[in-house]
Amino acid sequence: MNTVIELLQNRVSCPKLVAPAPNRDELQQILACAVRAPDHARLKPWYYHVIQGKALNELGELFASTIDANNVAQDKLEKTRNMPLRAPLIIVAVCEPQENAKVPAMEQILAVGASIQNMQVAISSLGFGSIWRTGDMAHAKAVKQHFGLSDQGEIVGFIYVGTPDKLPSKPNSSINEYVKYWE
Ligand SMILES: Cc1cc2nc3c(=O)[nH]c(=O)nc-3n(C[C@H](O)[C@H](O)[C@H](O)COP(=O)(O)O)c2cc1C
Repeated sequence: MNTVIELLQNRVSCPKLVAPAPNRDELQQILACAVRAPDHARLKPWYYHVIQGKALNELGELFASTIDANNVAQDKLEKTRNMPLRAPLIIVAVCEPQENAKVPAMEQILAVGASIQNMQVAISSLGFGSIWRTGDMAHAKAVKQHFGLSDQGEIVGFIYVGTPDKLPSKPNSSINEYVKYWE
């Protein structure tokens, strides 16, 4: 089996990630894979914010600020504040859809999704782990504004990146129930 197919068939998401994260040179390689994703009309509707160090704590404060502290249990507030600390590095992949007669916003968001998958595969190939997360914070107005998005813009994913603490096992899935050949 060739190495790309082997990697793709065996990749897993890693919820538990520790240091080290990819270094700057490795990140440049990963991001170069992102911008080779299929992208209708080459609109390049993507942008990537790389968050590490104290910026992770600042992102946690931003997350916490979106919650009404008077109406939520203290542990939920703390959990939200600590979310970005679940990995040593986060790539926030955003889409600002452009007006285009041939390419609806959904296709532009899909292009960013494809770029995320390219990154996840590249991250695995370098021996690191990642997990794609969204959740309420991806839709919170203050978070979207922080990353310079308009009302039409979307946070397509928070990609948590680091070294897998423990590689999760993943059962092999059969393709038969999802595929029909017409010939
Ligand atoms: C668009 C999108 C959003 C996701 N959001 C979350 C999330 O917020 N939290 C989470 O635990 N997993 C989320 N996932 C799922 C994980 O990234 C991962 O795919 C899942 O845990 C299955 O693991 P696997 O990739 O090893 O099969 C999301 C996946 C996608 C494609």
